[in-house]
Amino acid sequence: MPLTLPPKPGKPAPLHPMVERAAGGELPDWAVAGPRRREHIERVRRLLERWAEELQLPERECIRWCAAGTLHDALRDAPPRELRPRVPPSLRHLPGKVLHGPAAAVRLRREGVHDPGLLRAVAYHTVGHPRLDAAGHALFVADVAEPGRRDRVEWRRDLRDRFPHRSAEVLAEVIRARLTWQLEAGQRLDPRSVRFWNDRGAPEVGAQGAGSPETGS
Ligand SMILES: [Fe+2]
Ligand SMILES: [Fe+2]
Repeated sequence: MPLTLPPKPGKPAPLHPMVERAAGGELPDWAVAGPRRREHIERVRRLLERWAEELQLPERECIRWCAAGTLHDALRDAPPRELRPRVPPSLRHLPGKVLHGPAAAVRLRREGVHDPGLLRAVAYHTVGHPRLDAAGHALFVADVAEPGRRDRVEWRRDLRDRFPHRSAEVLAEVIRARLTWQLEAGQRLDPRSVRFWNDRGAPEVGAQGAGSPETGS
């Protein structure tokens, strides 16, 4: 494997060949994803491609968005017990079903992918993270909004149609939905998810009106 050095600051690095191939829908050979998973992955990639085209993003950004779609679930069908020791210690406490994101990001970095925004998008596509970039936001929404999911069909279609021109609003809606699902299931919230909501989802302080009963004032 050729050694790929991190880019010099201020200079956009050439895109890694694995990223270029992923943008076209090709999973890396180390992927662990069954046929149905691959169909989901392809739907997410195509949705990101549609949005990138609607937004007339530069080619490089379009490639990053599509690659994020392909790579996000590359290890989704690997057993959590195999993934847990591979992720950074700060993420090992996460539930087994979300370890595939961080594990894929670790593997991509080892393969020479040094795009921090892309790695973060893949690592935190389920948990969310306050420092996700536009590709990370788009993936976070696309994973929920893709057309193959069988429940809340109308809501998901609406998300797909609105995202390109109302991305902040749609992102907030999806963060809220994911947190609500977790709370309803009685799960712990990761601090990164809460910061993501506070930064990108919740209204600004003061926007909710002063003196409401909820604020206790
Ligand atoms: Fe996933
Ligand atoms: Fe997914």
